[in-house]
Amino acid sequence: MTNLDHLKNVPIFADLSSSDLEKISNKMILRNYNKGQVILLEESKGETFFVIKTGEVKVTKLSDDGREVILAILGESEFFGEMSLLDGEGRSANIVANEDSTALTLSRNDFLSCLESYPKIAISLLEELAVRLRKSDKHIESLSLSDSEHRIGITIARLAEEIGTIKKGVVSIKKLPFQQDIANMAGTSRETVSRTIKLFEDKKILTRNGRALTIFDFNSFKKSFS
Ligand code: CMP
Repeated sequence: MTNLDHLKNVPIFADLSSSDLEKISNKMILRNYNKGQVILLEESKGETFFVIKTGEVKVTKLSDDGREVILAILGESEFFGEMSLLDGEGRSANIVANEDSTALTLSRNDFLSCLESYPKIAISLLEELAVRLRKSDKHIESLSLSDSEHRIGITIARLAEEIGTIKKGVVSIKKLPFQQDIANMAGTSRETVSRTIKLFEDKKILTRNGRALTIFDFNSFKKSFS
């Protein structure tokens, strides 16, 4: 797929004409990252905006005792790196490639002039930032719960909404993140995630096959964990 074709499928660029998209696409550089590579380091200076073309990244911070805390997992057509370009502060978090990934990148100046020239991009960006803020609010709320089973349920419900597909009330997640990553999202240990997923299986709430996961009645699952 060409860079231009890819941009047509990126929600924040969706409202632009092909000729405007082509102008933006001509300014973008395609970069490759290997699985596990640190793409952005927290507190470093922000110079670049990224749109994921293929693959997946995690947004992380390190806790005081050195544990990785995962704030979000971002996939194809999602963007990152906008915050430090907008407020002039250092990078707010680390970005690490969860898989071999590629991203289309824009320099800081080109990103800021895009926002000025195309207010539709600025509005779409704000909409997405509102969605992310709501998710963060929910995440903070869930971390204050002492019950780890509940925190893991909330994390799985979030993953189901972000990367799952729903059909007749049944949600399928093709590639569930690794249990250690789910633990780092839910603020618990890998062993507790493993035990809790097994418990959900025993209760016939969900089933697993390798990294695939199916939740039988997503509406009631969500109700139990909201
Ligand atoms: P920036 O601060 O430039 O670099 C790190 C990036 O991580 C940041 O821009 C955002 O794009 C992204 N990021 C930070 N916090 C979150 C979050 N809670 N959810 C999703 N993405 C985030």
